[in-house]
Amino acid sequence: MATSAEIAEAIPAMGSDTPLAAQAAIDARRRINLAGLRFPLPQSTRTITVANQKGGVGKTTTAVNMAAALARGGAKVLVIDSDPQGNASTALGVGHHAGTGSIYEVLIGELRMKDAIQMCPKQDGLWCLPATIDLSGAEIELVTMDQREWRLASALRTLKSDWIAAGNTRFDYVIIDCPPSLGLLTINTLVAAQEVLIPIQCEYYALEGLSQLLSNIELVRQRLNQALRVSTILMTMFDARTNLAGDVVRDVRSHFSGLVLETTIPRSVRVAEAPGYGETVVTYDPNSTGALAYMQAAYELSQRGAPPEQEPT
Ligand SMILES: Nc1ncnc2c1ncn2[C@@H]1O[C@H](COP(=O)(O)OP(=O)(O)O)[C@@H](O)[C@H]1O
Ligand SMILES: [Mg+2]
Repeated sequence: MATSAEIAEAIPAMGSDTPLAAQAAIDARRRINLAGLRFPLPQSTRTITVANQKGGVGKTTTAVNMAAALARGGAKVLVIDSDPQGNASTALGVGHHAGTGSIYEVLIGELRMKDAIQMCPKQDGLWCLPATIDLSGAEIELVTMDQREWRLASALRTLKSDWIAAGNTRFDYVIIDCPPSLGLLTINTLVAAQEVLIPIQCEYYALEGLSQLLSNIELVRQRLNQALRVSTILMTMFDARTNLAGDVVRDVRSHFSGLVLETTIPRSVRVAEAPGYGETVVTYDPNSTGALAYMQAAYELSQRGAPPEQEPT
């Protein structure tokens, strides 16, 4: 009997001269290859912060959809929303009206993280530490606090032991959604993480501001967190109908070869629609182009971090 990979291979790249038909063929292959696939799990928790100080490049969309895709692939995932806008909390369907226990109370030391995280209603294996509007003052309040760069890192360390003590299995991934700035909230996320995932929008000024982000990451690495590295770049809002998108992807790949995921995320209405229903596109419409692209990207991310294959003995 043919394996699903063989069936997927057999789908002709029909009409791949038109972007729509080419996308349909890619989607069909992904639907078959990804169906029921269990992703490889990391040996220890991977903490990944999704950062780019530009707004609107797809940070939140990437954080929540990669997280939902990893959870769908069988991982236990915690999303930390560190943007006062709370868009990640909205997309994950968790309560975040003013007064809800959130990252704000955790950062100022009023609440333990274990008492503020919520289960996401639409996806097993997925939790969220929400952000409320209260977080908007934190950037200033943090300035005068003790250990101001370390507050998220130490809260996360405490959570990991609280979580295990309560009889849970460890998180495979902690994914952090950053605000669009390089202030103390973002620095806290860089100190708490080992990996940075940078989403880059496929547009003309894609690389603008990137050198500033990279030099901040390097400063944090030298002074505060030696374990930190940029592990992943994901190209977002790819529009196959324009030559520009292809040029931008080639340009970014030539600057950062090895870091850029093979999978690019296409621009797709379903992706933008899903948060309106308190969902990620991965749960809202799992067979849509955008959901399949995020599933494929998450699979790639999980493979890159997987323990090396055992040598056959
Ligand atoms: N692949 C995509 N296709 C269509 N719209 C997208 C896609 N990715 C993001 N968007 C939309 O673009 C806007 C900005 O994305 P968002 O993830 O909020 O960026 P950021 O967190 O960097 O500010 C949002 O309205 C989002 O729904
Ligand atoms: Mg955002």
